[in-house]
Amino acid sequence: MAYDDLEILLDAETIARRVRELAAQISADYRGRPLRLVGILKGAWVFLADLVRQLPFEVTVDFISIESYGNNSTTTGAVKITKDLDRSIEGLDVLIVEDILDTGHTFEYLRGVLEAHKPRSLKVVTLLDKPSRRVRPVKADYVGFTIPDVFVVGYGLDYAQQYRNLPDIRILRKTS
Ligand code: IMP
Ligand code: MG
Repeated sequence: MAYDDLEILLDAETIARRVRELAAQISADYRGRPLRLVGILKGAWVFLADLVRQLPFEVTVDFISIESYGNNSTTTGAVKITKDLDRSIEGLDVLIVEDILDTGHTFEYLRGVLEAHKPRSLKVVTLLDKPSRRVRPVKADYVGFTIPDVFVVGYGLDYAQQYRNLPDIRILRKTS
């Protein structure tokens, strides 16, 4: 298969097992209360697609797309919305679905934006967490995997828009 040169950090089966566990935890915590998932485009779309099919109660989905300024592998703190929510989240239980929490700049900005819309509750599930890189004081409510300070691609995560289609999460080591 393609990209065999990239070392696997988390294989597809390991990811699937963890997504099932997260879904069970989320289902238990919300106890069937209607839930609005808000996926962060584009990185979280594969994770969201797998997660949502494991939530056996009333769930609706919306997406927000944000762009961070910086180079291809790190954000600088400047973030802007390029696609807003389609529907109001006022008074709803909202769960943000993130691909990865890195410096925390993106999530801190997003949390402020979404809280201003007055949801009933606001939590976040992130597939991956890189706490060693954190600059802003943010924490996820649900974390799939805590990973070391490596740049990863696959399962929705990109480098310069490439690799999102890989079924596992692999380490991209840059040569320069
Ligand atoms: P933060 O603002 O630094 O927390 O960065 C969050 C965003 O940066 C994520 O939503 C990803 O789009 C991107 N990102 C951070 N680390 C990685 C990585 O290892 N691989 C791919 N994208 C990453
Ligand atoms: Mg990205």
